[in-house]
Amino acid sequence: MYRKPVFLLFVSFILSALSACQNTAPNTNQTAVNTNQNQTASKEIPNRKWWKEAVVYQIYPRSFKDTNGDGIGDLKGITEKLDYIKSLGIDAVWLNPIFSSPNDDMGYDVSDYRNIMKEFGTMEDFDVMLKGFHERGIKVVLDLVANHSSDEHFWFQEAKKSRDNPYRDYYHWWNEEDGKPPKRVSFFDPEGDGWQYEPNTKSYYLHYFSDKQPDLNWENPKLREEMYSMMKFWFDKGVDGFRMDVIHFISKDKPFREIPAEFNGDFGKFYGSGPKLHDYIQEMNREVLSKYDVMTLGEAGATKEDAHKFVDEERRELNMIYHYEGVNLGYLPDSKKIIDPKGWKLSDFKDIYTKWDTNFAEKGWNTVYLGNHDQPRMVTRWGNDSPEFREVSSKMLTTFLLTQRATPYYYFGDELGMNNIKFDKIEDYKDIESINWYKQIKAEGGDLTQFLESQKIAARDNGRTPFQWNATANAGFSTGTPWLKVNPNYEKLNAEAQEKDENSVLNYFRKLVKFRKENPILIYGKYTLLDRENEDVYSYTRELDGKKFLVLLNFKPKESEAKTGLDLSKAKVLMSNYADAAASEKLKPYQAVILEITN
Ligand code: GLC
Ligand code: CA
Repeated sequence: MYRKPVFLLFVSFILSALSACQNTAPNTNQTAVNTNQNQTASKEIPNRKWWKEAVVYQIYPRSFKDTNGDGIGDLKGITEKLDYIKSLGIDAVWLNPIFSSPNDDMGYDVSDYRNIMKEFGTMEDFDVMLKGFHERGIKVVLDLVANHSSDEHFWFQEAKKSRDNPYRDYYHWWNEEDGKPPKRVSFFDPEGDGWQYEPNTKSYYLHYFSDKQPDLNWENPKLREEMYSMMKFWFDKGVDGFRMDVIHFISKDKPFREIPAEFNGDFGKFYGSGPKLHDYIQEMNREVLSKYDVMTLGEAGATKEDAHKFVDEERRELNMIYHYEGVNLGYLPDSKKIIDPKGWKLSDFKDIYTKWDTNFAEKGWNTVYLGNHDQPRMVTRWGNDSPEFREVSSKMLTTFLLTQRATPYYYFGDELGMNNIKFDKIEDYKDIESINWYKQIKAEGGDLTQFLESQKIAARDNGRTPFQWNATANAGFSTGTPWLKVNPNYEKLNAEAQEKDENSVLNYFRKLVKFRKENPILIYGKYTLLDRENEDVYSYTRELDGKKFLVLLNFKPKESEAKTGLDLSKAKVLMSNYADAAASEKLKPYQAVILEITN
């Protein structure tokens, strides 16, 4: 059970007294903030956990900071920026894969799980970085890519030598003499074929992703042992957790049968329902996770019901998972992220996030994100990246993320309001997903113009462009040629400029992180959706210990009105992305307000 130590209470008291003084000054800046809210003693909240209270900042190392001029971000770059990361007020970082890799899928194809990707540096660099984070009280979560390895991994190199090689069973094979294997779909194969022929041993191997990402055979206890011992290797170094890549895919439907009709088109669901999935995760928990004080986040794209199997405490599996329902809204069904010309409805958006909140209201714990390395920039996709509204809508989305009953996973660069680069031509893309879909559509004689237009909104590379540090060449990211183009708006949109501006997107993020941490109501308080049918404004309350906050978010570039049915006459504005915000249901374009409701 977590209690605030007495000296912290004292510090909080002093801080709140100070901020109360500051708040007597007239509010002339653009951001209304009142941090003097949290200090009333709250009743014991059951089952508090640091990872429930954390704000997790995701770093895509390749694009964060390059220190040796090769155009690729590196671990030394992260170390160089530790104070910046600390200044955000976040509690943990999740780093995309940093292990040895030929980078067919940017690190999600690991060729050595116990070494650092040469472009990123050395193990010594890693140790220095880890120590630097820990000295600043920041936890470090790595990415576990357990469903597949690289074809350049030693295990696979051995496995394809002969059918009786000791490593053969580390992967899934189908012998040529047994005929064509039953259809399996690959997400990154130009023909969409999940089986790749391997001539030396006259057999096919399974790859749900690219043919350089052969799927590992979790049915083999030796493979599982290897995985567990590798995880221990990192935990023994002091790593604080893992985000687990497509972990719902590790158990295969063996012996491979035809994909049942009900899964046609929904292959992800079929792949994600492997019969031994939860046995493996429970074993992993027994063998490894339970022995350390670490956190786990599964990328599990699960249904509501499946989600509980991963995270309910008594099952002893993982702490949290994340789903794709929110981020998939607004694409045509079963398409290559082709934008639905009808757009997306705010009521659908509310329904998804409300459903997931309700799902964990009694049991388990929720997560929330709008951006990550598989997504475009959140402001382009869910806000408005025009010069007029980019900043204000970024702040509005940040308000959404930091006021949900869920652990927020906040993607690097979103704290600056970085937006999509929107490449015109396929040659600018580096991501296997975009390149592969382009090839597929071309081969099918499909509509490439429509695809490229949709990619300007949807492509993953939009979220992977280098971090914009300052207005010098390449946004201060690198002195060489960046591996992926820098967004040309860096001269105006960069961290250095925003440091100097009290009302910047960056400083709004910092204030909101602090505000969330000071107000447990925003972490643990009950969530209630109001005014569901409103297609302009998303409104909800958060309640804890007789306290009630109301969050109003205008998702439209126009003045809009909420209809919450609440009496706001005595409500107090705690936070807003506009100066001198009023306690009103009338909202300015993309306005976000957090109110305290008092009767
Ligand atoms: C996950 C990762 C994604 C990667 C894929 C294959 O979805 O987030 O970036 O391409 O798995 O590893
Ligand atoms: Ca570098």
